[in-house]
Amino acid sequence: MPRTIQKAPGKIILFGEHAVVYGQPAIAVPIPQRYATATIEPIIRGDEPTRIIAPDIQMDIPIDDLPYEHPFVQITKLVKDLGKLHHLPAMKIHIHSTIPVSSGLGSGAAVSVALARALCTFLGIEHTNADISAMAYEAEKYHHGNPSGIDNTVIAYSRGIFYQREQPIKWITIGRPIDLLIVNSGEQKSTRIMVNQVAEKVAVNPEYYNQIILNVGSLVIQAKKILESGDIETLGKLMLKNHQYLQELHVSTSTLDQLVMLAMNAGAFGAKLSGAGGGGNMIILADHEQIPDIEHMIHQAGFSNTIHATIQ
Ligand code: MEV
Repeated sequence: MPRTIQKAPGKIILFGEHAVVYGQPAIAVPIPQRYATATIEPIIRGDEPTRIIAPDIQMDIPIDDLPYEHPFVQITKLVKDLGKLHHLPAMKIHIHSTIPVSSGLGSGAAVSVALARALCTFLGIEHTNADISAMAYEAEKYHHGNPSGIDNTVIAYSRGIFYQREQPIKWITIGRPIDLLIVNSGEQKSTRIMVNQVAEKVAVNPEYYNQIILNVGSLVIQAKKILESGDIETLGKLMLKNHQYLQELHVSTSTLDQLVMLAMNAGAFGAKLSGAGGGGNMIILADHEQIPDIEHMIHQAGFSNTIHATIQ
């Protein structure tokens, strides 16, 4: 069994986060500039157990020492089931990621996808993107509690998607390449906390919050058409509107709002938080030529962690 390396990209949600948990559609795209890597090599000495080495999270332990519900354990078990294997050979599994954790870029799902794919490849198990996505979804439950499935899907397929729970995946078509500046607010909040926070609001005042969720759904359907037509200005307006809805769901922060304002004052077409919120990343939509100026200004304001991504 030769050494195997598999990579999986990060992701951003262009429209529809949180509402997607409640069955509304959302649009997400992969971000190959940030990625997770899983490398697997055989352990030759038979008495050594399978080891997971993930320096980013200070982990270097036998996999059997991890709790049963841990994503690494779950993925390994699911791969074993897929391949109908009775036992697995001893392996050294290295995990590395350039995706910041708890920042809305899908770090957990990317690690799960990279690991699932590396294990399948290493063990010679036939697999589809749907298999990999389904395994990563199970692992996502550990991170999120109630994941919509959008992160594992966009990352496993590595393609822009229009995603709705329980519906076949639709690919998105981009009429004209769009330039995004992804900005890390420097604040971190777990997706589980943010998703639970919204659930509590919905439970207390269902009429009010369900209406916002429905509004986000309609906006996403509109955004899909606008993305296809390539009307960047209207797309920017929809982004801002989506950010307002996310504010109404109480998942934005003063830093994220400040970044949105900075971007708009600098002449961007639109901006919004991206992902679960409570911190993490936000995205700015602007003209290709304008991105370097906006990026400079954002750096000057103290936010040095940015990615320029062209989506096509
Ligand atoms: C997280 O990337 C997006 C959320 O909508 C949660 C989910 O869809 O599982 C906040």
